[in-house]
Amino acid sequence: MVKKWLVVLLVAVVSVGILGLFVAGSFAGTKNELEIFSWWTGGGEEEGLNALIKLFHQLYPDVKVINATVAGGAGTNAKAVLKTRMLGGNPPDSFQVHAGMELIDTYVIPGMMRPITKYMKEWGAYNKFPKAILDMCSYKRNVYSVPVNVHRGNVVFYNKKIAAEIGMTKPPKTWKEFIKYLKLAKKHGYIGLALGDKNKWTALHLFEDIMLGKLGPKKYNGLWKNKVSFNDPAIKAALETMKEVLPYINTDHSAMTWQDATRLVFSGKALANVMGDWAEGYLKTLGWKPGKQFGWFAVPETSNAFMVVSDTFGLPKKAPHPKNALRWLKLLASVKAQDVFNPIKGSIPARLDADKSKYDVYLRWSMHDFATVALCPSIIHGSAAPEGFVTALNDVINRFVTKKNVAQAMKGILQDAEDNGYLVK
Ligand code: GAL
Repeated sequence: MVKKWLVVLLVAVVSVGILGLFVAGSFAGTKNELEIFSWWTGGGEEEGLNALIKLFHQLYPDVKVINATVAGGAGTNAKAVLKTRMLGGNPPDSFQVHAGMELIDTYVIPGMMRPITKYMKEWGAYNKFPKAILDMCSYKRNVYSVPVNVHRGNVVFYNKKIAAEIGMTKPPKTWKEFIKYLKLAKKHGYIGLALGDKNKWTALHLFEDIMLGKLGPKKYNGLWKNKVSFNDPAIKAALETMKEVLPYINTDHSAMTWQDATRLVFSGKALANVMGDWAEGYLKTLGWKPGKQFGWFAVPETSNAFMVVSDTFGLPKKAPHPKNALRWLKLLASVKAQDVFNPIKGSIPARLDADKSKYDVYLRWSMHDFATVALCPSIIHGSAAPEGFVTALNDVINRFVTKKNVAQAMKGILQDAEDNGYLVK
């Protein structure tokens, strides 16, 4: 008898426990939270993101913001973590994703995102972005993410003191001219060009800029529309130029991040660095002023082109807190948020009606070029091509940095292009 009672009691306790867990579990999904996922962890990136979160807090003080970041420039590590979470049905409420193929091919076409067109209209934001950028966030006439900025990928940042010492008084227009200065810098005991390819993407970043110059914007854009072949002699010429540049980079490049490389310029060890203008944000957080301690110019041979890198945020279908995600997206789409974030981040606002007076002399230069020169989507920053192509090209170019074998790299590029359905004839 006693035994029977014990069994009943045990069953009751276990059942209450299970019920408790179930109730707690279902409440977990309804907590007043917002989880934002990005790779913005330092050097201007974190500061920019924090400024946005602060604005969000002011508007929605009751919402707990979970700032989920995975360190590593250009999303080196973050992208893989995000993909696993998305495929596993455990997405954040909103996440950083580049406009273009990274958004459309990886997440929209497989059906993981919710369209936000109607909200963009409701917020009065739909017509406030350049068509070219909004198109990169759209699929079949629906918008899927809010562009928060436009970075320029084809920029050289340089140490003005070193430039003056070696006589680089005006921006070199060609690689031939620039290499002359890299050589001079080396002669004076400096590193010519700082590179930090511990995370591989920076090597491809450099290469895509050289390639853009050799092809010119029209042909570069033609590659992605299957109008220009990857067999174009300009691509081989780009490899040859990169090979000429490699002797002037720091020998410890493979142990350095992009921030470390930018720091070589800052600390007076290197003349210059080819980088996207998040480096401008970083140099500013280190205390430098654009035009004072550092100068800049478009990567040689690319002054007629703007390599577009646009960070956007979208709404996963399975976002646990969609209401808060939409509040976040509404904020990002506002002039106020864009004007708080971008001057810190080193990017220009995606919105056309932003307050230009809030932007420094570098960013005004970038705004001017964005409005006047040809726009070209970055490969390594996810806009131009699908992920498979980018990963394989990244491997080819990283091998090239070590082996310096033009023929082998060319073969790799053509193979990659062919595998992904691009023109190779
Ligand atoms: C880019 C991103 C920028 C910046 C950079 C370095 O891909 O668009 O916002 O974060 O990587 O991490």
